[in-house]
Amino acid sequence: ECVENISSQYGDTISVPCSPGDTPSQDIFMIKWKYDKEDGTSGDLLVKRQGHNATITAPEEFTGRLSIGEDNSLLIANGVLSDQRTFTCMIVMASDITELAVEVFIHKSPEAVELTNNPAAVEMNKLTTIGECSAEDANPAAKITWFRNDAPLKDDGKGVVITASETVDPDTGLSSTLSRLQYIAGKEDAAARFSCAVTDTPLRSTPVQFTINYPTEKVSLEVTTPGPFLEGADITLRCHADGNPPPSSYVFHLQGEEVTVEDEDVYTLSNVTREKTGEYKCSPLDNASLLASHNITIHYLDVSLSPSGRVVKSAGETLPVTLQKDASSKVTVSWTKNQASLSEEPQFERLKYSDSGLYECQVSLGELTSTHSFELLVKGSPVITSLREQMSADGKHKVLSCEAEGYPKPSVEWSGINGTSEEESDYVDGKVTHRLTVMPKANLTVTCLVMNDLGSDSKNTKVSSLLVHIDDREVTMDKQDQSEESGDQTKLAVGIVIALLLATVAVALGYWVYIKKSKQGSWKTGEEDGNTEESKKLEAPQKAEV
Ligand SMILES: *[C@@H]1O[C@H](CO)[C@@H](O)[C@H](O)[C@H]1NC(C)=O
Ligand SMILES: *[C@@H]1O[C@H](CO)[C@@H](O)[C@H](O)[C@H]1NC(C)=O
Ligand SMILES: *[C@@H]1O[C@H](CO)[C@@H](O)[C@H](O)[C@H]1NC(C)=O
Ligand SMILES: *[C@@H]1O[C@H](CO)[C@@H](O)[C@H](O)[C@H]1NC(C)=O
Repeated sequence: ECVENISSQYGDTISVPCSPGDTPSQDIFMIKWKYDKEDGTSGDLLVKRQGHNATITAPEEFTGRLSIGEDNSLLIANGVLSDQRTFTCMIVMASDITELAVEVFIHKSPEAVELTNNPAAVEMNKLTTIGECSAEDANPAAKITWFRNDAPLKDDGKGVVITASETVDPDTGLSSTLSRLQYIAGKEDAAARFSCAVTDTPLRSTPVQFTINYPTEKVSLEVTTPGPFLEGADITLRCHADGNPPPSSYVFHLQGEEVTVEDEDVYTLSNVTREKTGEYKCSPLDNASLLASHNITIHYLDVSLSPSGRVVKSAGETLPVTLQKDASSKVTVSWTKNQASLSEEPQFERLKYSDSGLYECQVSLGELTSTHSFELLVKGSPVITSLREQMSADGKHKVLSCEAEGYPKPSVEWSGINGTSEEESDYVDGKVTHRLTVMPKANLTVTCLVMNDLGSDSKNTKVSSLLVHIDDREVTMDKQDQSEESGDQTKLAVGIVIALLLATVAVALGYWVYIKKSKQGSWKTGEEDGNTEESKKLEAPQKAEV
């Protein structure tokens, strides 16, 4: 006897077929459905005779649920688990009685799968329950699979331990499955998503994540304020620990002093001084053996310049210049005199008037800059450095120039002559030049007198008369500077004039002889030409003598 198997969904109408092969329905006298009881005996459910309505003889558990289909199949409404049995249809024909047995299975998937008891944080490297998954009221009992991201997890008895248990509802006979995942998490699991699913169904729990807690192994001390640091700066230190969660409080070791910060990881050093240069440390409050350190350098720049302010010195004296620098590292120094840069530090072995000026030095260390200055005045009684006489550009005057050095600025006076105009140069580097334009009418001795608070100096010079006039052409002789020389020139000029006169007389004499010879006969042709040319040649020197 072969037994057919059918399965039906829980709650659906179970359709148990009665398939007597190709027997024509008019040959069937009666159909009788029976079922197998728990005790092994069989009980009647329903009888249907040809031409009659079915008669139900089923016990209470089937009340209101049974009917028979057109094809004689047994229809059991609201299938429940107790309907999982063997049903038999007995077919009574004219000549034969056949029985067909059908075994019924009732399937029920769980309504949902739910992941619970999942912790928010998990300690690293320790077998921990990640969660519990339940799938209720199923038949057969649900099988639960755990996933890490999309990969199924298999119980390996060490890092992955999956424990499942099933319970059966005594009323419905449906099973509930509870599966617990225990897992050893590592840092790499911090972003992993864990979920569970019911095998062979689309049911899947919402995924869960957890943070991984692990102890601090490394501590670092970070200086969050960007350096370099100058005196007066505020510097913020941050202590960082790699544990999760990080320690809540830290201890900062500040050059022998210990400061605990609660629920914070920063400490700010305010208004630092050079003494704060050194090593700084920090550690978590709960583990002093984890220490991080950082060296901090506070830059400083102390400069003193000697001399300073206004310095008045005498010409010829020595002035030592001392620039003292005390700095945290190498500095750059630049010097200027009256805003123009100097290539090196000024040195004054013998002070000159030209050394006077505003000296500034700038000492730099990164952004730190210190500027110092002194103003030097070289004083001295005036000295005449030059007294000269020149012709003016138009040749009609003489210009006397008296050049003097001294500080304070010397006054210049002339005596022995009255000038037509005078001018004075700018007073630069202790030097002044005074020019006097004169027209001396006699040979004179002129004195230049220079004076300041500290003393005076004077010099004489001889100025020759300008009243030597030969014709209008004074330029030739007056280009000479010295009066003695001018006298010699005059003599020379007179000599030239006499020589020219003599030459004219000689030419005139020659001409006269020539005329005489022409009148005697021979060279008459060239007479007029020669006459004109010679006359012209003679005109220039003759005019010069007048
Ligand atoms: C069979 O049942 C139907 C309704 O269920 C009824 O109308 C009919 O009269 C019944 N037939 C007989 C022969 O009793
Ligand atoms: C401090 O940290 C060290 C190194 O990570 C560890 O070995 C030690 O157990 C920790 N001590 C405490 C008190 O947590
Ligand atoms: C300069 O002029 C003054 C009058 O203005 C006169 O007394 C003096 O003699 C003159 N000196 C010379 C050197 O000509
Ligand atoms: C000026 O001096 C020169 C010589 O130095 C002399 O020849 C000349 O005659 C003098 N002139 C007057 C006007 O005294």
